[in-house]
Formats: sequence, structure tokens, C-alpha cells
Amino acid sequence: MKLGVNIDHVAVLREARKVNDPDIIEAMFTAIKAGADQITIHLREDRRHIQDIDVEYICKLSKIPVNLECSIDSKIIDIVCKNKPHRATIVPEKREEVTTEGGLDVSKNFDTLKKAVKKLKENEIAVSLFIDPNKETTKLSKEVGADMVEYHTGAYANIYAMLYGNLKHSNHSIKELELSRETLKKKLDDEIKTLKECCKYANSLGLKVAAGHGLNYQNVKEIAKLPFVEELNIGQSIVARSVFTGLEKAINNMRDLLK
Ligand code: PXP
Repeated sequence: MKLGVNIDHVAVLREARKVNDPDIIEAMFTAIKAGADQITIHLREDRRHIQDIDVEYICKLSKIPVNLECSIDSKIIDIVCKNKPHRATIVPEKREEVTTEGGLDVSKNFDTLKKAVKKLKENEIAVSLFIDPNKETTKLSKEVGADMVEYHTGAYANIYAMLYGNLKHSNHSIKELELSRETLKKKLDDEIKTLKECCKYANSLGLKVAAGHGLNYQNVKEIAKLPFVEELNIGQSIVARSVFTGLEKAINNMRDLLK
């Protein structure tokens, strides 16, 4: 199982002060040293964390593949093509969201996506689409020409946190998931079942399969067991742990769990 370390969250801290500290390039080299298989970054349209210059340097200096997450905005796609990461992961983007909430609507954006995928592939950039675990969306992802799908595990992570964590009793409780333990357990089982079926289906279509969002040291094991998933992209939980342990150790701990 490959681990893509999403270092956006290091840039979130840097941008809070608008200084070059913590240094994103140091984070990249530390992640490589700790055995990350891939560096993942997201160039958001509002540039709230990763900046154009970060993309430029990371794509130039990384000794391991770079997975650049991006929207389908044509200006952003042009930047991706110019920087030539190993792969682009197309994600939905809303200005007001805290993070990427939910997968791409491939049906609604079919023509724009097809055009973006074609352009990226002409530039020798592999393409992954960040989608919800859903067979129809998986089929459409194949039809627009994607090489890979990354299943959004946010719904799974939210149910897990409400079932096993203390989220329900905190300020961050998810109102629509304030349900009995029995109901949450059933929801979690259903979500895992859907993920499993989608992974098998994606593989049968010849798509590579990744997963990510909201994965942490507690909930990752079930996801690492999913059939045909070859890569997980994890950011928030690793960078959060690094505050207490250092980034290298936080990545090592996650790698150990994936083994
Ligand atoms: N994969 C994709 C496509 C994402 O957009 C994100 C969030 O930036 C992640 C993985 C990592 O999510 P998290 O930070 O919750 O681990």
C-alpha cells in the first residue's frame, strides 16, 4: 500500500502568519526521508495554502512522484500542465468549504472533464478523479478517460468518528449523524460494503484505485484492507500528530499501520 502524504496542512500553518515558516520544502524532504511514496498537494483556486511557487519548487525538487490536486478551472489546468507533476487528481472545489466536501459530479461536468483529462494526458500527466464511492460515477470516470479514481472516504471517517470517537460530545458533532450506536454501526458497515464493491468495480474497468480524506491512525486499517486500493492520501491526521512527534515519526507511525 502506497502512502501519499498531503503536506497542504503545513502550508496552512505557514499562511496563518504569511511567513516562510514552517517551510513546505523542508516538509517535502522530511516526508521523502520518512518513506512517503508520494507528495500530495492541492493548488486551490483561492490559494489558501499551497501557492504557485510551492507547486513549481515541489515539482522540480521532489525525488518521488508528485500528485497535484486541482479543480477543472482552465487556468488551474494550465498551471498543472506547465509544472508537469506525475499525476493530477481533479477534485471539486467550492470557495466557502473548509475542505473538499464530497466527490466530483462527473455527470454534470462530463464535457469539461473530458477536455481537461485530454489536455493533462497530452502533457504526460496521469489523471485521477476524486469521487464518492458510487458505481455510476466510477463508470463515467472511465468514460472521460481517467486512469485512476480516488474514493472520498470522508463519509466513512465521519461515521467512524461519531461511533468510536468523542465527536458527538464536542463542538464538532455532526448533527445528521447524531444517531444511536446501533444505527451508526450499520451505516459504517454499509459504507465499507459500498467502498468494497466500488473498488472491485473500478478494477474491473481497468481503473487504478486510491482512497483518501479524513483517514487517521484509528480508522485507516479498514480502508487499507479494501480490495485493489493501491494508495492512500493522508494529510490532516499526519500533520496534526507531527506537532507532538515530529513529521518523520508521524509518517513512520502511519506507514507501520499500513503494513
Ligand atoms: N485526497 C484528496 C483528493 C483530498 O482533497 C484530500 C484533502 O486535501 C486528501 C486526500 C487528504 O485528506 P485529509 O487531509 O483529511 O487526510
